[in-house]
Amino acid sequence: MSKEIADKICLVILAAGQGTRMKVSTPKPLIPIMNRPMLDYVLDTCLDFRRHKVKNALISLVVGHQSEVMKAYVDQHYHSENLHITMQQKQLGTADAVKSFLAQCPDVMSYKYIFILSGDVPMVSLEHLEKIYSEISSRHLKAVVATVITENPTGYGRIQLHSTGLSIVEEKDADAEVKKITSINTGLYVFETKYLKDCIEKISNNNKSHEFYLTDTFQSGREVGAVHFDHGEDLLGINTLEQLEQTSKRINRRNLLKLSAQGVRFWDFASTFIEPSVAIASGSVIYPNVIIEGQTKIAAGCSVGPFCHLKNVELAEDVQVKSHSMLEGCKIASRAEVGPFARLRPGADIGSKAKVGNFVEIKKSTIGPGAKVSHLSYVGDAIVGDNTNIGCGFITCNYDGVEKHVTKIGKNCFIGSDTQTIAPVEIGDNCFVASGSTINTPMPDGSFGISRGRQTTHLNMAKRFLKVKDKDKHKDA
Ligand code: UD1
Ligand code: CA
Repeated sequence: MSKEIADKICLVILAAGQGTRMKVSTPKPLIPIMNRPMLDYVLDTCLDFRRHKVKNALISLVVGHQSEVMKAYVDQHYHSENLHITMQQKQLGTADAVKSFLAQCPDVMSYKYIFILSGDVPMVSLEHLEKIYSEISSRHLKAVVATVITENPTGYGRIQLHSTGLSIVEEKDADAEVKKITSINTGLYVFETKYLKDCIEKISNNNKSHEFYLTDTFQSGREVGAVHFDHGEDLLGINTLEQLEQTSKRINRRNLLKLSAQGVRFWDFASTFIEPSVAIASGSVIYPNVIIEGQTKIAAGCSVGPFCHLKNVELAEDVQVKSHSMLEGCKIASRAEVGPFARLRPGADIGSKAKVGNFVEIKKSTIGPGAKVSHLSYVGDAIVGDNTNIGCGFITCNYDGVEKHVTKIGKNCFIGSDTQTIAPVEIGDNCFVASGSTINTPMPDGSFGISRGRQTTHLNMAKRFLKVKDKDKHKDA
């Protein structure tokens, strides 16, 4: 990364608009991409810029539409970041939004440059900001706009080149010739503060939309320039939910490329969704159709099978999560195996080399190292000791309709299939519970427990109970 910038700088994020084209009631900047509002991605870049490039850069967010919701969000999530808020009373256009900022920013003339970003361009990066800054400062321009070429420029302002500079023409005001231009305005700019202030005063709303256009600051004959960026889609503003889906995929892919460069092996980028907040160590492999969210940490050598969904999970080294498993808020120690079709709920803590098999649900329970719950069981509010084997169809009856109670099972036990424990209850170490038992009293260490009706067999009596359908009666008689 290039060196720090000495100039005083403001970063202004325009986010007051209504976002009508999204057709949802949430303010557009707060609509999530994966689980984070798109505004967060823009703020990440601004905060990085302040951290690495311009110490004390002012970051201002222009709010207007649903401003109370926007302010509450920023207050809750960015309280310690000291963000400046600009209030735009009426959404009269992008120039009016900037005008509001200039009026409300204390000591605004002391800043040399003002960057303008949009709350709906989440893939804006530090490199984009650096490149437009280096253009304005090295060529001593008054304003620089970031441009891209797109196959479908509909809806965007077009960059019209003149013998003396350039101007930006909005879609609504463009004639057929201008509409053919594929070089478009991304809405990312840097201005010299004095130039911006002088221009803004003079901008009128004499156009088809009757809005005050910030783009009117770019006129032929002025000392303004453009920086063209490849990979244009990164800088296209999101106006519709379809564009949101496309950007979401691009952000995901950017993240998967980063992880794969660090040694994480993916079968299929296209069907794998991993939030940027997730950490995966090298040597792990992720199968197709996997979603991994939140503060998940996956250590080296793990595999996550097809159709798994992980959220806020910690996997230690060499854990295998087999297909169709849903894991949330849980911890799995090294070399344990989970799934296929396992459901681990918050508070599940699985010991090393333990095994949780198919159709097993575990909630708020510790499964000791080497223990096994292999088939069709529910374990809730329980502590299961090391190397205990739980058979098929085991249930902790942990809920009495009002409260949850704890089941404790010691080390090296054998719990037969189709057993229920009625909590609160405690089974000691080295115990044996016979199949089909309902355990509701404590079992001391080394004890054998059985609770089921004794079997009686009556010869030739079955026919009294076997019901035969009418139409079949004569056939077998
Ligand atoms: C704007 C540009 C267009 C460019 C496009 C890129 C203008 C006049 N046009 O068009 O040239 O190609 O962005 O995405 O600037 N906003 C406010 N207050 C307002 C109006 C808008 O804060 O009164 C904010 C919006 O919340 C949004 C940003 O400014 O974050 C851009 O506004 P939007 O209405 O999306 O502009 P576009 O029509 O996309
Ligand atoms: Ca837009």
